[in-house]
Amino acid sequence: MPLMESLRPLRSTPDNHQALIVRPISGALGAEISDINLAKCANSIDQIKAAFLKYHVLVFREQTLNPIEIKNFAKYFGPLETHPYIKGLDEHPEVAPIIKEANEKINFGGGWHTDMSFLSCPPLGSLLYAIDTPEFGGDTLFANQHAAYESLSDYMKEFVGQLKGLHSAASQYGLNGDSEKRSEARKSMSLGISEKAHAQVSHPVVRTHPESGLRALYVNRPFTERLEGLRSSESNALLSFLWSHCEEPRFTCRVRWEPGTVTLWDNRIVQHYALNDYDGRRREMRRVTIEGDRPI
Ligand SMILES: [Fe+2]
Repeated sequence: MPLMESLRPLRSTPDNHQALIVRPISGALGAEISDINLAKCANSIDQIKAAFLKYHVLVFREQTLNPIEIKNFAKYFGPLETHPYIKGLDEHPEVAPIIKEANEKINFGGGWHTDMSFLSCPPLGSLLYAIDTPEFGGDTLFANQHAAYESLSDYMKEFVGQLKGLHSAASQYGLNGDSEKRSEARKSMSLGISEKAHAQVSHPVVRTHPESGLRALYVNRPFTERLEGLRSSESNALLSFLWSHCEEPRFTCRVRWEPGTVTLWDNRIVQHYALNDYDGRRREMRRVTIEGDRPI
């Protein structure tokens, strides 16, 4: 089915008889849902879940949520994960503050990636809630990895469909990794550094979404270290092609933040990129992460 055909705006009527309006934000993925309070959305959760599977990235505006309400909304999708390397709030360890102060140069998540693919069961999804945002800048890009897979030739689909990638957190949270090297430039984030981050896990390069059955590429720059069974030169060349392919603008949407914006994304089928284009201005978010399955 052509991608655009499945992305028409829809209006559905949830149990509480309030219309749920879902507006796509690009041709590739993402939709904005308006007129809903996520602290009181039990009657609409089936429609929200359907939209989540269809659009992969959902944006909600003008929310006012305390940490418990953030967690309660995310729990509709599954149990919450405590990030192994980011310190959460004291009373809510599953809620991680993501902060860049005006005088800091380095942001968190500033490159294309899939959250925590270094785990044997990486997260189903992540949620960000904006508390303080720059007047402009600091947008987040998302890329549809199913669309990226579908646009490959049949020969390439068959080849990469047989491959597995080795993932680890070493380049980010390992010894001499990004967190250690940039700790001074990113003081507001409390990021752990550990030898354990060097442990590798193997995931298929093409994963099948456990709910929708859609196939998606599952390799990303910071965490996929090499492709199993290939020579280093072959692995490097193919990963380099796949990374660039996965990030093409035609597969993306862009979310602009304002205080009160919530964005929820499906980590099993999208990559994302936090833009660092707001030097001199502050940005503060809250993040929760939802546990996921072992990729198949
Ligand atoms: Fe991320």
